[in-house]
Amino acid sequence: MILVTTAGKVGAEAARLLALRGEPVRVLVRDPGKAKPLADAGAEISVGDLDVPATLDAAMAGVTAVILVSPAVPAQELNVVASAARAGVGHVVKATSKASADSPIARRRGQSEIEAGLAASGLPHTLLRSNAYMQNVLMLAPAIAATSRFGSAAGSGRAGMVDARDVAAAAAQIAAGVPAAAAEMNAQAFSLTAGGDADWVSDDVPALLGRPAHSFREFAADYADAFS
Ligand SMILES: NC(=O)c1ccc[n+]([C@@H]2O[C@H](COP(=O)([O-])OP(=O)(O)OC[C@H]3O[C@@H](n4cnc5c(N)ncnc54)[C@H](OP(=O)(O)O)[C@@H]3O)[C@@H](O)[C@H]2O)c1
Repeated sequence: MILVTTAGKVGAEAARLLALRGEPVRVLVRDPGKAKPLADAGAEISVGDLDVPATLDAAMAGVTAVILVSPAVPAQELNVVASAARAGVGHVVKATSKASADSPIARRRGQSEIEAGLAASGLPHTLLRSNAYMQNVLMLAPAIAATSRFGSAAGSGRAGMVDARDVAAAAAQIAAGVPAAAAEMNAQAFSLTAGGDADWVSDDVPALLGRPAHSFREFAADYADAFS
């Protein structure tokens, strides 16, 4: 089960994509009325509030991965991190921005505080560090409609943009882990290995090369740095 915290721009689309793929997905919302399209798409709806840890613990039951996306109030997202840690969640995918503890912008300092809390939790996680969402431009829609122009207080300063739907797709892809077909093949292979299917070596390498094949002991010694 994948839990998506909140059904805003990114969360709703990530949950929709996961449900479309047949992945078990649960969405934490304050108002279930607003989440009807997600319920119709096959997502489970969990009514809760990021400020109320008990509702997060209830939503976290049986969850293997969390897509953490919300207005990024540190206390609220850290509540989610603490709940995920209590539940032993396997992976957290967090939507974030240009987070920095030294930023003059409070929300970037807040993101930095959340990222630090996530790192300190020890939970495996992925940070989706996005530049501006294209959907921000929708706020200018009435002015654009009225004037056929748009402007910005940043003047000619350039800004990279990403469609929030692409952020959602990336979050869903990471939370879904290994593609189902590959996961199925891996599971089949490990199952056969458990029964002895892989318990063999051949003499082909020494016969072809005229020297002994590398032993596992040699391999481990040569790659010792990777295991230290
Ligand atoms: N906008 C950008 O350009 C941009 C760029 C980079 C990164 N980001 C990051 O993206 C994240 C925001 O994602 P978004 O744009 O998808 O969010 P969003 O569209 O603003 O949606 C926020 C959602 O949070 C819900 N919510 C608010 N308070 C809640 C609470 N106490 N308990 C439960 N739900 C609550 C809201 O539900 P209600 O309907 O109940 O209010 C809403 O569905 C932030 O981390 C932000 O820093 C944004």
